Amino acid sequence: HASLRLGIAGLGTVGASVVRGLRAHGDELAERCGRRLVVRAVCARDRTRDRGVDLSGINWIQDPVRLAESPDIDVFVELIGGASGPAEDSVRAALASGKHVVTANKALLARHGVELARLAEKRGVSLNFEAAVAGGIPIIKTLRESLAGNRVDRIFGILNGTCNYILTRMQNERLSFDVCLKEAQRLGYAETDPTFDVGGFDTAHKLALLTSLAFGSEIDVDAIAIEGITDVTLDDIEKADELGYRIKLLAIAERAPSGAITQRVHPTMVPKSSAIARIDGVLNAVAVEADFVGKLMLVGPGAGGDATASSVIGDVADIARGTALSVMGKPAEHMTPYLKSNGAEH
Ligand code: HSE
Repeated sequence: HASLRLGIAGLGTVGASVVRGLRAHGDELAERCGRRLVVRAVCARDRTRDRGVDLSGINWIQDPVRLAESPDIDVFVELIGGASGPAEDSVRAALASGKHVVTANKALLARHGVELARLAEKRGVSLNFEAAVAGGIPIIKTLRESLAGNRVDRIFGILNGTCNYILTRMQNERLSFDVCLKEAQRLGYAETDPTFDVGGFDTAHKLALLTSLAFGSEIDVDAIAIEGITDVTLDDIEKADELGYRIKLLAIAERAPSGAITQRVHPTMVPKSSAIARIDGVLNAVAVEADFVGKLMLVGPGAGGDATASSVIGDVADIARGTALSVMGKPAEHMTPYLKSNGAEH
């Protein structure tokens, strides 16, 4: 097999880790995929910044759209971020020119996922996004593949590492919100604009994707009632503690008896003895309740360069092996009904 040629747009925390991971495990990946994964070109604004990774032999292309359309790559890895602008333009360009796309961009998919999925289907290429939800936790594959034989009734969890990190340190060390947020930014957990994290919007973007996969409904981020953690005070945390609770930012989607799907994001008091109360720091957790499997919970790092890169590289490996599913885990001819709304509440 010829090698699989990658173009990576965005060399921030995650992009740099992807390059490092591909280099660190190049031989094992070649063995597992039956072909080598080669980074052909990258695109990032600042060429001089030291990212602690070896970029020798990799081309630099200034414009992400040009990289996306380059005949020199097979897979476009989008790690720029943002629901519009260069991330959107370059993903569209990549799909339109027949490239597979791997992205960690939940904001983009929450807004334009249905349309991008259709474009990918039309071109017969993959659009993989394991890294877009819960960082290193393989929840997309779990829902699409492992749990395909279930009817999901409820999915809930902690989907933002920054918020959980802040709440945990406020709880354990009585540190102020602002100090904890600065630390989360320093560790590379937060979004470029941390309002997305602390305002609950990042959690909502991720929930919208999970809901669509779990319930077969159209991605609908506007249907989500969103409250972030900006109003949670040390006093709230102490009061909850005295009553035997922890405060966690939860994302919840469930099927009402009427069949409608409800989605919401808000700080929640959870009993200290519950499993979800013990998810601390940058960890995320996703709990699924479904008819055949029963209840299960996946726990792991929800943010950070290496953990997120693990999911990105896994998606690339699926493409290399030819085992990537069509966008939402279905063959192309069944896509349209799947993406239609199933009557989720607005
Ligand atoms: N800012 C996000 C978080 C990164 O803190 O969870 C992972 O999507």
